[in-house]
Amino acid sequence: MNILLLGSGGRESAISWKLSQSPLCSQLFIAPGNAGTAAFGTNVVLGINDFEAIKIFCISHKIDILFPGSEEPLVNGIYDFFKNDPDLKHIIIPGPSKEGAQLEGSKAFSKKFMQRHQIPTAGYAEFDEHNFELGLQYLDHHSTPIVLKADGLAAGKGVVITSDKDEAKEVFTSMIKEAQFGDASKTVVVEQFLTGIECSVFAFTDGEHYVILPEAKDYKRIGEGDTGPNTGGMGAISPVPFVQGDFMQKVIRKIIEPTVSGLKSEGILYQGFIFFGLINVGGEPYVIEYNCRMGDPETEVVMPRLENDLVAMILKMNEQKLNEVIVQHNPKAACTVMLVSGGYPGDYEKNKLITGLAHVSNSILFHAGTIKKDNNVFTAGGRVIAVTSYGENIKEALEISYANAALINFEGKYFRTDIGFEF
Ligand code: AMP
Ligand code: GLY
Repeated sequence: MNILLLGSGGRESAISWKLSQSPLCSQLFIAPGNAGTAAFGTNVVLGINDFEAIKIFCISHKIDILFPGSEEPLVNGIYDFFKNDPDLKHIIIPGPSKEGAQLEGSKAFSKKFMQRHQIPTAGYAEFDEHNFELGLQYLDHHSTPIVLKADGLAAGKGVVITSDKDEAKEVFTSMIKEAQFGDASKTVVVEQFLTGIECSVFAFTDGEHYVILPEAKDYKRIGEGDTGPNTGGMGAISPVPFVQGDFMQKVIRKIIEPTVSGLKSEGILYQGFIFFGLINVGGEPYVIEYNCRMGDPETEVVMPRLENDLVAMILKMNEQKLNEVIVQHNPKAACTVMLVSGGYPGDYEKNKLITGLAHVSNSILFHAGTIKKDNNVFTAGGRVIAVTSYGENIKEALEISYANAALINFEGKYFRTDIGFEF
């Protein structure tokens, strides 16, 4: 199989690492990739939303599987673009149709979907320009904290949580009236605040059946003890001690099954990953969000714990035979610690020389924002490298990642030293 993976983050590094281990993988291309993905395949210069250029590449390189790593091309309809083109429709895509990707692409869509299928989620109301004044009154009577969400994709920045009603109204106004997040915030979802511990559960579905991948927990805030602004994710662990037994059975029965059967009953084409961002409220799982792709940095621990051949699983997905797949988990724990550029998630500098990579042992380095120039590796993004390790338990895995994180250096390097602190 010739495979083209779209993306350039730590997630795509972990996916390319996994795909490249499959005997079914003949050639692996990553567009655009980073300094790390080049070790697992060939990086190619293509924009992940440049469907015409991707088409030409797929035809000329006889691509059999197109793997969109991130949500953007999926929400923009890459699945439909391929399936509607006679020259491309044979190409297997582990990812949903444009309509299916709305589970992530529109908070309002996903909320309505959950309501239709009685899937537990926070209570909400939806507002736009037409009922804007009503929205302001609604905020006046809302309990605090208030959760405001831009409807569309906003690169992880579209959620504001505040206990200050004046601030809530300001944000609400700038989202709708001043298009703070462009078209994404023309509609705003106002949600009830849920208190609990979050976790990430991943299903891989063929539209009829599904399998569950190893679960994970990511650490989103920049600061120790989960403080400060949200980031793309500062680290992750797997397994998650509370995501098993009775709680996991509830996740399956109340969330995963009605989601997969709901998509099917509504005729929404969905073959690919469903990422359930969940919160455990007193032992009951609620959906905080759906994503139509794998998580980052969760993938940097999920792929290392997945023993199955990922290419074989994708082929089973395509044949709608995922019921024949038994997911094998590596019994070891895995963790990842993200090294980021100083200043991230605000402004940060790029192009800093990264040293010490060759001194790392016992960890897998999944590059994110890196670029190779003249045999040297430089920073090229906020999240720079994910340091993943295995251990007999989470604590041991973390010790190994932290020992190696100390060996890698670049100006402004920062990482959280408390990943997995609750366990
Ligand atoms: P989202 O983009 O929907 O995942 O939201 C980003 C983050 O905001 C989540 O990971 C949660 O930490 C937080 N969040 C979102 N919705 C809620 C909610 N209803 N209650 C509490 N926290 C929330
Ligand atoms: N780690 C959260 C996400 O990938 O959206």
